[in-house]
Amino acid sequence: MEIRKVGVVGCGLMGAGIVETCARAGYQVTVREVNQELLDRGLARIQRSMERGVKKTKLLAEDRDAAWARIHGTTDIKDLAGCDLVIEAIIENMELKKKVFRELDELLAPHVIIASNTSSLCITEMASVTKRGDKVLGMHFFNPVPVMPLLEFVRTILTSDETMATAREFGASLGKTMVTAKDTPGFIVNLLLIPYILDAVRMVENELATREDIDTAIKLGLNHPMGPLTLLDFVGLDTCLFIADAMFDEFKDPKYAAPPLLRRMVLAGYLGRKSGKGFYDYSK
Ligand code: CAA
Repeated sequence: MEIRKVGVVGCGLMGAGIVETCARAGYQVTVREVNQELLDRGLARIQRSMERGVKKTKLLAEDRDAAWARIHGTTDIKDLAGCDLVIEAIIENMELKKKVFRELDELLAPHVIIASNTSSLCITEMASVTKRGDKVLGMHFFNPVPVMPLLEFVRTILTSDETMATAREFGASLGKTMVTAKDTPGFIVNLLLIPYILDAVRMVENELATREDIDTAIKLGLNHPMGPLTLLDFVGLDTCLFIADAMFDEFKDPKYAAPPLLRRMVLAGYLGRKSGKGFYDYSK
């Protein structure tokens, strides 16, 4: 099946990155946000990111302009009607995701694939509210989407071979390297990442070392681009807590239980970079 027009639902951090990546790969992209203010904010984020790509000499100015011309913003989900593939990237709320999946299922031609960028929620549950379970899968991108080379697919027991083949062709056209996981919370990356991040928070909680030393140890001792606490601030403390809770809920294994400090920091509004403060201060 040929994909020419891609729809993206949600233009937050991940949605904007997905839109940019698809448009830069040559696809016509229609992105839907719930209101004009959020849409404008998301589109401005895409412009800033492409500007950065030009400054870093990763993107030619004319390619930026051509990609920008392929992006169409809307607040009306009906404008996704002609799309060949739709990627949902809204907030991590199962009821809202199911509402979007129901609407898309009504709206889209029967052959169209619907993917979710969720990092932890059950893809099978989203598929269950549609009449096209064989055409539903997880497409989990990584932040920053235009830079991170991985695309993690989540295949449910309903997803067909044909859908997987089309998804792989699409992922390759974006220049991503793909891996496939079963539909269990955390998939591959977060099943390993979240316990590691939770352990780093426990280290701070137990005063085993300072946050700077924990990050320096991992950066220089394991050659990671970011230490776990910097990465936690980057991903968002609320996002990591949400994923940890989803994993604990499913597996009931204490290794996924969020440490009290993480929960309290989220309650206090220390969400990481996005709120200006997490384990580090970004307000200046
Ligand atoms: N388009 C294209 N390329 C771009 C770009 C853009 N908009 N912006 C930056 N780049 C390129 C740069 O040119 C640079 O490339 P080279 O290495 O070839 O020079 C590279 O991307 C890195 O960019 P910067 O030099 O600007 O920044 P940096 O070196 O400080 O790296 C970082 C920033 C990429 C974020 C790096 O710190 C990193 O990889 N951190 C870890 C990120 C990570 O782990 N993300 C996954 C989080 S988990 C997740 O997302 C999923 C989940 O479910 C929780």
